[in-house]
Order: sequence, then C-alpha cells, then structure tokens
Amino acid sequence: MAEGRRGKRLRGWLAGFLVALTAAGCHPMDDLLVTIFGRSMREQPSLDPYDQPLLPAEGTVPFAAGNFPPADGVVQLGQAESAAEFPAPVQPIQLLQQAPEIMELQNPVEPTAGSLARGEEMFNRACSPCHGAGGLGDGPVTEAGMLSFSLLTDEAQEYPDGYIYTIIRVGRGAMPALGHQVAHFDRWHLVNYVRELQGVTPADPTAQDAEDR
Ligand code: HEC
Repeated sequence: MAEGRRGKRLRGWLAGFLVALTAAGCHPMDDLLVTIFGRSMREQPSLDPYDQPLLPAEGTVPFAAGNFPPADGVVQLGQAESAAEFPAPVQPIQLLQQAPEIMELQNPVEPTAGSLARGEEMFNRACSPCHGAGGLGDGPVTEAGMLSFSLLTDEAQEYPDGYIYTIIRVGRGAMPALGHQVAHFDRWHLVNYVRELQGVTPADPTAQDAEDR
C-alpha cells in the first residue's frame, strides 16, 4: 500500500533523526548556537552541582567575618564573649516605633583607632554608594535616582547608637536591610565611624574625657 510505505519511510527518517540527536549529545539547540557563535551557555566556568568550590588561601581571614585585624599581629577585632552579647532579632516596625530594646542598646565597642579604621573601610564599601564618602547623602547612586539622605543632620546626630546599629541591620523605608552582609561588630564599628563623620566622636578618642562618652 502506498500509505504504508510512506508511513514506514517517515518512521525511518524520524528514527534516524533521533539517533543523530543522541549522537550529538542531545543538545541540538546548543550545537546550533555553537555553529553560529562558536560557543553556547552550556559550557561556562560556573560550578556544576556537587562541584567543590575552591577553598580560600591558607591563613586568610574572610573580610565579612568582622574579625579584620586592627593591626599587625592583632586578630579578631570584636569577638563576642558569649552569644548573650548579641541583641535579639528585631523587626523593621520596631525601628519605626523606636522601641526601647533598640533605643537603649549599648555600644560595646570603644571608638579606638582600629574600630574607626574598620568602620571607614566598611562605610566606603556598604554605605558610601548612597550616603557619600563624607556622609552628606551625595553618593554616586543618588545620581541614578536613589533618595539622597545626609547622615550629618541634627536628627541623625541625635539618634542613639542602637538606632544606627539597627537601621543597618533591618533597613528603613528606601534604605535596604544590610544585616545579612554587615556582621554584628562591623555594625558597631560603622556606628563609631558615622559618629566620627558627624563630629560627635573626636578623631582621636584617647584625647576624650571619660565623662563625655
Ligand atoms: C541603597 C542606598 C543606601 C545604602 C547602601 C545605605 N543607606 Fe542609609 N539610608 C538610605 C536612605 C534612602 C535613607 C532614608 C530612609 C527612609 O526612607 O526613611 C537612609 C537612612 C539612613 C539613616 C537615618 C538617617 C536619618 O536622618 O533618619 C542612617 C543612620 C543610615 N541610613 C545609615 C546607613 C549606614 C551606616 C549605611 C551602611 C552600612 C547605609 N545607611 C547604607 C539609603 C542607603
């Protein structure tokens, strides 16, 4: 029968096509892209499932650990004595309400030269894109439409340390929460550095009267 022969021919053709697909690794679209562009996204340097990422070089300290050495031979700037030192989790709404557990948080980190240096480093990384290197609210992303917010206003100076610590942690309004990127002690180093920018902490804390703290 004519129909039967055509059907058989079609099946044979299909089978041949499938064999060709399998032989080509079953990614005909990728193969086509490779012929056109010389590469496809299937081959890329990203890790495959269960691939082991490279370990950091021996002797290095992760920058985000908050254990950045303040000086040669000194490690672990700010190391909690116990878990009880870390403030309990809070919600952004508690910041807006200026809840006492936020407003009364005590800054456990002295504004030493090491703390201020770490604060400056973190500020330039995490805050200056929006608030500007001097805290005036003139960071580069404000040119792209981000709200400009100075940290040197009277209002910002009057916030207690715990408020600044917590706004870094949970964010507020248009400011994103940075708590997942900025560790506990780094937040306090940042508070110290913001205070220095505001002129609240003198640049040389050793010259400061204990009563002024
Ligand atoms: C993506 C931009 C952005 C980044 C990054 C950012 N901020 Fe903000 N910040 C804002 C905006 C916008 C506001 C105003 C928030 C609002 O809508 O109430 C603000 C508000 C603040 C305030 C309150 C000021 C006031 O007068 O009420 C403080 C303090 C502050 N930021 C500190 C920081 C610190 C410290 C960092 C770095 C850890 C940081 N911010 C990172 C955008 C940013």
